[in-house]
Amino acid sequence: MRIIENIAEMQRLADTWRAGGERIAFVPTMGFLHEGHLDLMRTARKLGTKAVVSIFVNPTQFAPTEDFESYPRDLQRDLDLSTAVGTDLAFVPRMDEMYPERFQTYVNVTQVTENLCGMSRPVFFRGVATVVSKLFHAVKPHIAVFGQKDFQQLVTIRRMVKDMNMDIDIVGHPIVREKDGLAMSSRNTYLKPEERPAALRLNRSLKEARELVDSGERNASVILKAVNDCLTTGGGATVDYARLCNPDTIEDVEVISGPTLLALAVWVGKTRLIDNRVLELPG
Ligand code: PAJ
Repeated sequence: MRIIENIAEMQRLADTWRAGGERIAFVPTMGFLHEGHLDLMRTARKLGTKAVVSIFVNPTQFAPTEDFESYPRDLQRDLDLSTAVGTDLAFVPRMDEMYPERFQTYVNVTQVTENLCGMSRPVFFRGVATVVSKLFHAVKPHIAVFGQKDFQQLVTIRRMVKDMNMDIDIVGHPIVREKDGLAMSSRNTYLKPEERPAALRLNRSLKEARELVDSGERNASVILKAVNDCLTTGGGATVDYARLCNPDTIEDVEVISGPTLLALAVWVGKTRLIDNRVLELPG
């Protein structure tokens, strides 16, 4: 697997690949790769003729109070795992090239970023849209693969690509879970063993909500009460948000009348976990 750190070198190689008729499929990541990332990379390999992963912990999507400094990092392990799944290239840009002095241009996607994580993490989506836009300009992909685990991020990227006329197919990939149901995340490494039962209640509450919808419940506040009860019973979990939203607009829904996003963000100790599920109406 080739490794490129320099943006201009990445752009030249992307141009060469494109001129040669290759299809570039791209997976942006912040590293500390797990099976969820690797599955996205396998999908990229299938969809393109050249699969590229980027590894860059992006400071602009972290608030000053968040975990940018302590975010887990292990570049050598990431490169080994990327090689093992057949990725052609890892783009590992340097901080001073991504954000040189006097950097002052940001991409701001508005409505779909206002609810959910946009409420508790005010700079997050601006940082994500900015860095993903920059990475797209460097890697020049035909296709980019994003996880549905970060559902609102996926919707935000789709919106940005559409609004900015970026000629890139955005592919959503299903959530990859541990055997016990916990959605994989680089931040799961923060969890203490005794915090695991509380963490598992995210997935359990998604299932409970689906069962309620299957049994005919359509009232969002009834479903959200059950979800909150499930999350908090037993202690150890503080709900940041649990909301039912339109999966396209990310606006709150009061009565379920079609596919509806149930999105959760929960603090378990010092770890903020997110999970979601699109609830489909039976029949
Ligand atoms: P990161 O959290 O490293 O995630 C990189 C990609 O992997 C994202 O598209 C995310 O949705 C996906 N992913 C993570 N865990 C997953 C899981 N359990 N199942 C399926 N997909 C999963 O998301 C980011 O980085 C950053 O915000 C980034 C887009 C790279 C911009 O900095």
